[in-house]
Amino acid sequence: MAMVCLSDFEAHAKKYLPKIAWDFFAAGADDCITRDENVLAYKRISFRPRMLRDVSMMDIRTKLLGTEISFPVGIAPTGFHQLAWPDGEKSTARAAKALNICYIASTYSTCTLEEISTAAPGGLRWFQLYIHRNRAVSQQLVQRAEALGFQALVLTADLPYTGKRRDDIRNGFRLPPHMKLKNLEGAFEVCDCSEYGLPPNSLDPSVTWNDIYWLRSLTHLPIIIKGILTKEDAELAVRHGVQGIIVSNHGGRQLDGGPATIDALVEVMEAVKDRIEVYLDGGIRKGSDVLKALALGAKCVFIGRPALWGLAYKGEEGLQDVLRILQDEFRLSMALAG
Ligand code: FNR
Repeated sequence: MAMVCLSDFEAHAKKYLPKIAWDFFAAGADDCITRDENVLAYKRISFRPRMLRDVSMMDIRTKLLGTEISFPVGIAPTGFHQLAWPDGEKSTARAAKALNICYIASTYSTCTLEEISTAAPGGLRWFQLYIHRNRAVSQQLVQRAEALGFQALVLTADLPYTGKRRDDIRNGFRLPPHMKLKNLEGAFEVCDCSEYGLPPNSLDPSVTWNDIYWLRSLTHLPIIIKGILTKEDAELAVRHGVQGIIVSNHGGRQLDGGPATIDALVEVMEAVKDRIEVYLDGGIRKGSDVLKALALGAKCVFIGRPALWGLAYKGEEGLQDVLRILQDEFRLSMALAG
């Protein structure tokens, strides 16, 4: 079958992945209203296209915190890539490097940060952090990432507890025995890894804005906060001196009933007023979605599930296909919008 758009990769993943893996990737919280709204909200936004503007030459490159990327799409942090493809995050890193875009590696990767770095030396990578109750574990991860050349730290702010994902509960989701959260191996004394590969309650739900100062004391890396949805929190992020924010609702996997990210972007942009870089993830499925997010102020967008569908199709090659399709669609939308 010819793979023409990202939905083709979604259909393929749904057909061929084991049900438990597909359900885990697809899951949203509760009724999945926010997950679905992320996608639907783009359909309610229309362009005001301009004509006769010579679109024969276009430059779709941009910069993330000063580093050039080939087009304004990156890979959002998602866990457990080995559920999609045996080489897991190593394939993701290679595909991102081949396209010269940014890959945000998750704390919950099934390859070590060292394996990810070695797989694609010199690629632009950021490290996504969840803060654990055992702060020494988080501190070591941050310092390991910095030493390995990751170029920014992305703190995920919207997961003090894991959202209620019904299919994972119905399926009794567990990582297959041969897969591990490799970056956290040996970090916990308890062997009960029943909560997405970790002992229950290992994340620290007491994290506050003050912890940005703690992170700042651990690393020289720029800090980006992921999971901002309101003007109030955008203002707090700027005041706490972070370098960027990602408008995100975790792909609708956390609080169900929150806004679609493209809708939240508008108030966040008004509050930030160009003081720091603002990115977005959630519901990006077409090049024209990327253009809409950029038109509303985002500097770059990140894809979560579509990257997993690409990996599930053909590993590194499949993810490259997904990225190239998005790149071509984005370029075409830009031209047609004038
Ligand atoms: C995620 N997301 C996520 N976020 C994060 O900060 N750390 C993580 O480990 C994960 N893991 C994860 C697993 C899976 C299977 C999904 C689908 C999502 C959230 C992710 O970074 C991003 O916010 C959303 O996936 C974006 O929405 P789309 O592109 O999937 O619609």
